[in-house]
Amino acid sequence: MSMAAASSILMIAGLVFALGSIASLAEARAFFVFGDSLVDSGNNNYLATTARADSPPYGIDYPTRRPTGRFSNGLNIPDIISQQIGQSQPPLPYLSPENNGQRLLVGANFASAGIGILNDTGIQFLNVIRMFRQLDYFEEHQRRVQAIIGPQRTRQLINQALVLITVGGNDFVNNYYLVPYSARSRQYSLPDYVKYLISEYKKLLMRLHKLGAQRVLVTGTGPMGCVPAELAMRGTNGGCSAELQRAAALYNPQLVQMLQELNRKIGKNVFVAANTQQMHMDFISSPQAYGFITSKVACCGQGPNNGLGLCTRLSNLCPNRDQYAFWDPFHPSEKANKLIVQQIMSGNTNYMNPMNLSTIMALDSIVS
Ligand SMILES: *[C@@H]1O[C@H](CO)[C@@H](O)[C@H](O)[C@H]1NC(C)=O
Ligand SMILES: *[C@@H]1O[C@H](CO)[C@@H](O)[C@H](O)[C@H]1NC(C)=O
Repeated sequence: MSMAAASSILMIAGLVFALGSIASLAEARAFFVFGDSLVDSGNNNYLATTARADSPPYGIDYPTRRPTGRFSNGLNIPDIISQQIGQSQPPLPYLSPENNGQRLLVGANFASAGIGILNDTGIQFLNVIRMFRQLDYFEEHQRRVQAIIGPQRTRQLINQALVLITVGGNDFVNNYYLVPYSARSRQYSLPDYVKYLISEYKKLLMRLHKLGAQRVLVTGTGPMGCVPAELAMRGTNGGCSAELQRAAALYNPQLVQMLQELNRKIGKNVFVAANTQQMHMDFISSPQAYGFITSKVACCGQGPNNGLGLCTRLSNLCPNRDQYAFWDPFHPSEKANKLIVQQIMSGNTNYMNPMNLSTIMALDSIVS
């Protein structure tokens, strides 16, 4: 066989391989992620901010054993959802230099630790990607995809995509309750603040839908008063912070109501509420049932409950992360993230409203 024939066979083999990998990338639906540190996969690595998770021991149980910017010992919630919907790779942080070419078709992660529904949430973290900017980036992403596959297929890719949005916790922890007599707490009573948050969130979600999103998982806040940081700083008689629990109890049901209202207006179940409060409460009320030795003490941290300050190289670090519901003072461990996604996939209507992700997948595969 001549060199030319051999190399053209190689070229054909290469082409077939390339087409094959494009097909496998296109097999799973695209996945877009918006929100805060609970879902940030590393955007803040590229920003001048103090809200970052790019040094050890973050990532200690990640496949590479290296920090990535995820606020977890290993995988975060978007990683696990991405696996569940059949993607071979999770969407990259939007700011990653590798987020180019065919990778854009997988989706993107726009989330940024420290942000909230409101622009003034997380101002202490300086340069973070606030919600309106995440949505601007979503538009920019669509223009970049259009340049590759054209406007019509881009529209289809966006319409068929799964979207996850996790935001709101910081509007309490890093705004209203950040300091005593915060500006927002002087401006609003808690019930009025919750109403204001919900009305601003509604505007963001309407813009997301207008930009083409048709299936959006919206998580509520967790039981904010029960995270190790709050147990350490303002626990009530060693228990959860009553004030933050009151905030979560007011906010979460109104969020579900607002989503139902939006769905009625649109005439389709675009928005699906994930009751992360209940999912967390399950392992806070009976950690042993889920294989945890505690849900009150963070694996990585210092001070009471390992709940004070940041998780750094100098912090206490537990030997087995799977035994802890909380990895650091605010964020669940990979094990807890897996349990949460399990409920997102197949939980009943106490957890997922109006339906779980397996039902969404089944419905959407029939439609398309
Ligand atoms: C946040 O800031 C952006 C840009 O300045 C603005 O368009 C948007 O309306 C602001 N959102 C709120 C809730 O104030
Ligand atoms: C959720 O998912 C499971 C499949 O894992 C299904 O059997 C169940 O009926 C679903 N529940 C709801 C409420 O959609």
